[in-house]
Amino acid sequence: MKINGTAYRSVWRDPADSRLVHIFDQTKLPWSLDILDLREMEQVAHAIRTMQVRGAPLIGAVAAYGLAFALQSDAGDEGLARAAAYLVETRPTAINLRWAIERMAARLAPLAPAARVAAAYEEADAICDEDVRVNASIGRHGLDLIRTLWAERAEGQERLNILTHCNAGWIATVDWGTALAPIYMAHDSGIPVHVWVDETRPRNQGALLTAWELGAHGVPHTLIADNAGGHLMQHGEVDLVIVGTDRVTRGGDVANKIGTYLKALAARDNGVPFWVALPSSTIDWRVTDGVRDIPIEERAAEEVTHVSGLDEHGRPARVRVTPAGTTGANPAFDVTPARLVSGLLTERGPCEASAEGLRALFPDLDTTL
Ligand code: MRU
Repeated sequence: MKINGTAYRSVWRDPADSRLVHIFDQTKLPWSLDILDLREMEQVAHAIRTMQVRGAPLIGAVAAYGLAFALQSDAGDEGLARAAAYLVETRPTAINLRWAIERMAARLAPLAPAARVAAAYEEADAICDEDVRVNASIGRHGLDLIRTLWAERAEGQERLNILTHCNAGWIATVDWGTALAPIYMAHDSGIPVHVWVDETRPRNQGALLTAWELGAHGVPHTLIADNAGGHLMQHGEVDLVIVGTDRVTRGGDVANKIGTYLKALAARDNGVPFWVALPSSTIDWRVTDGVRDIPIEERAAEEVTHVSGLDEHGRPARVRVTPAGTTGANPAFDVTPARLVSGLLTERGPCEASAEGLRALFPDLDTTL
C-alpha cells in the first residue's frame, strides 16, 4: 500500500543488504513512521512481544525471518529446533506464528546445515509473497460480497456502512490486509463504502492503525467507541461487519481481538451480516472447541488502567485513568462461536463457518482427515 505516494509492504528485505529486514514500528504509528532494522532473532522476538509488529499474518512472516537470523549462528538440528520453539512462544493466540515456523522447519530440516540459511531467507520471502497474493484474493472475494450488498441497498441509501474491529489491514499482514482488503477494493471500484472504526481498547488498534490506513487510502471512515456498534446496528447504520482473526478452529469458531464476540452478538440480534476474513494459514485444524481450547493472551493490566497518546507538546504520554490502587485485567482476544458467524472469506472464496464449509474448500489442508 502507498504512504505519501510510496508503495510499501509491512516487512521487507533491505535492497542493499539482503540479511537485513525492515519493519515499521507500529507502536509509533500514526504519529511517526519509524522504520526498524532487524538482524537478530532476539530483535524479532522483542518486536513481536512488544507489538512493534502485530496482526496474525505479519507476526508469522516476521518470525520466519527471525528463524533465518538464528540459523546464521547455529544452523544445526538443535539450533533449528531451539530457535523454532523460542519464536513460537513469543505470542500465544495467533496461529499464523506456529504455521510459519512449522512451514520453515519442514523446508529446512531435510537440508544440510550449510544450505539452511539461504533456504530460510528464500522460504521467508515465499511466505511474504504468498501472503500478498492470498490477501488480494480474499479482497476480490470480499468485493463480490460488498457488491451484492450494495446492489440490494435500501432505496435512498447513499453509502454502504461497514463496521470493523481492531486492525486487519495491510499493516497487520504483508500487504492488503484481510478484513480491509475487500474494503480497499470496493472503494477503488467506486462503491461508496464508509467504515465505522471501533477504537479497540485497550491498545486502540482501530483508532491508531485502521483509521490511519483508511485515511491514507482515502476511504471515508468514522471512529466510534467500542460500545457504540450495537446502537448503530439497532438504528440501521451498519450494513455489514467484517473482522480479521487470529485463529479459526476446524469448526469455524473465531478468535479475534477482545470485543469481537460482543459485535457478533449485536450483529445477530439485529440481522446484520457478520463476516470474518482469513487466510488459510489462520485455520487451526487441531482445535475443535475454540472457547475451551484457544489460548487467550493475557496482557499487562497497565494497558487497561492507563491510556497512551501524545501530550500537548506532541510527546508520547501515558495517563492513569483509574483511582490509584484499582487493578485491571486484560484478556487480549475472545472467541466468537461459529454459530454467530455469517460466513468466512478465504483466499479460495467464501464458506460457511463450519467443519463442512472449511473442509469443502480446503480438503488438502485438513491434516486430521
Ligand atoms: O493484538 P494484535 O494487534 O496483534 O491483534 C490483531 C487482531 O486481532 C487482528 O484482528 C487479527 O490479527 C487479524 S490481522 C489480519
